[in-house]
This record gives sequence, structure tokens and C-alpha cells, in this order.
Amino acid sequence: MEKILEIKNINKSFSGIKATQNVSFDVFKGEILGILGPNGAGKTTLFNQISGFDRPDNGEILYKGANIIGIKPHILANQGLARTFQLVRPFHGMTIRENLMVPFLSDRGKKILLEAAEKGKKRDDLIGEIASSVGLADSLDENVNNLPHGALKKLEAAKISAIQPEIIMLDEPFGGLTEKEIESLSEYVKFLNQEKGITFIIIEHRLREFMKLVNRVVALNYGEKIAEGVPEEIIKNQLVIEAYLGKGGAEVANSKN
Ligand SMILES: Nc1ncnc2c1ncn2[C@@H]1O[C@H](COP(=O)(O)OP(=O)(O)OP(=O)(O)O)[C@@H](O)[C@H]1O
Ligand SMILES: [Mg+2]
Repeated sequence: MEKILEIKNINKSFSGIKATQNVSFDVFKGEILGILGPNGAGKTTLFNQISGFDRPDNGEILYKGANIIGIKPHILANQGLARTFQLVRPFHGMTIRENLMVPFLSDRGKKILLEAAEKGKKRDDLIGEIASSVGLADSLDENVNNLPHGALKKLEAAKISAIQPEIIMLDEPFGGLTEKEIESLSEYVKFLNQEKGITFIIIEHRLREFMKLVNRVVALNYGEKIAEGVPEEIIKNQLVIEAYLGKGGAEVANSKN
């Protein structure tokens, strides 16, 4: 399997707090990798380092074989490595349609528009297709200020997929969504993964839905990698259970097996 991303021994401290400690793992092209861990485990800090928002204190991050540490987030996004944020970040006061125009202003977005034009498609056609895929076709001309949280989470997924990245990193995409919305977002991720070949790295706390979606999991606790494997192994892993429930909770959970 081809490695698309290699994380090698990265460390990151914030005034004494070790948010990332000697973390190493590979991401393979075409997989859906999950990142697990309790609050404060260092998941978002890990994303920040991979996507260029934070610089590791040391270690290496290779994207398609090249070290990317120090490269700015928007340049990485243009190279196909893009992420969403834990909290939604729409452009307020604008409609869904206007929000979806923004990704096409980037270099990668402009390239996609040129390619689409050769096939006789306009920007608005592409926006319509993306909006339909995430279930926002009926809300295209609504102001985002008037839309519920669920629609804004869908907008985040639509915005990031517009530039057709090679790797999409989602930070808690299911946060605040209903079960039905989670199901349809999961279907969209699977569609992008299977039909467009996009690799995913997903942080999520909604474990049941998450374990159905991901192929492999990396688990973190106190900034360290505590486990790596397929979902079936991870849910039985003692260190992962203890990280979520504490030692006492893990004993109770195990006694019920
Ligand atoms: N910019 C920062 N300055 C200082 N401390 C930080 C900063 N960013 C993160 N931290 C600390 O690093 C640790 C890891 O935080 P991080 O946000 O990566 O956790 P997380 O796993 O994403 O948690 P959650 O599930 O709550 O989103 C925490 O102790 C946090 O307080
Ligand atoms: Mg986080």
C-alpha cells in the first residue's frame, strides 16, 4: 500500500503541556483513518501540525514523500491536503451558494473550474452538484445566519470537498448532528472515498457511527499514541478502554463481559 502521509516522531508542547509526544504513524492512500482519544488527548493539535497551523517542536511530516513542516495551510490545501475545524466556520451573512463560491477562488479551485469548463460546466453547476450530494440543494439561497447547526456542518463538508483534495481531514464532523444526518454525512464520505479516491483522516467522539465508517484507528491519550489497528481490535484494547473510562470504569465494563 502506498503511504500518502508519514508522521515521524513529532512532539509539540505548550508552556510545559506535552500536547503531542513522539507520535508516529502512516496514512495509506485511499483509506479512512480514524483518530480517537478523550478530551485533551491532542487530536486537534495533531491536525494543526499536519495541516500547517502549528509547527511541531521536532520530528517529520511527509506528504507524498516530501517534508511539509513550515508550509502554510493554504499552500497545503492547494496541494491537496485540507482540513475542517471542530467548530463550524461559515462566512456569516452570506448564502450557502455564496459560501460555496469561496473555495473556487483558490488556485486549486480555479483549476477545477477550468477543467469543468472544458466539459461545458459552470461554477454554479458544480455548486449545485456539491449541494445536492450533502443535502443542501434546497437551501442554496438561504442566508447561513438563518440555518441550523446541522446545515452548517454539511456546508463544511461541501466546502472542503469542492476543491477535491487528496486528503480530507475532518475534526469532529458529527458534532451536534442527528443520527439521520450522521448517516447521510457518512454516506457522502464513503462516496468521496470510493468514487473519487479521497483519503480521509477523521477525529470523532461518536464511536458507534465512527467505527462503522473507518478502516483503521489511531488512538491517543495525553498526547501519546496508545494503540493503532482495525476498529474490532481498538474497541477491545485495554489502554483505549481505560483512557475513555478510567481504570475503575474499565474494570466495571470488563466485569460485564
Ligand atoms: N494553543 C494552545 N495553547 C496552549 N495549550 C494548548 C493549545 N492547543 C492545545 N493545547 C492543549 O493541548 C492539549 C491537547 O489539546 P487538543 O485540543 O489537541 O485536544 P483534543 O484531543 O482535540 O480534545 P477535544 O476532544 O476536547 O477536542 C490540551 O491540554 C490543550 O489544553
Ligand atoms: Mg479537538
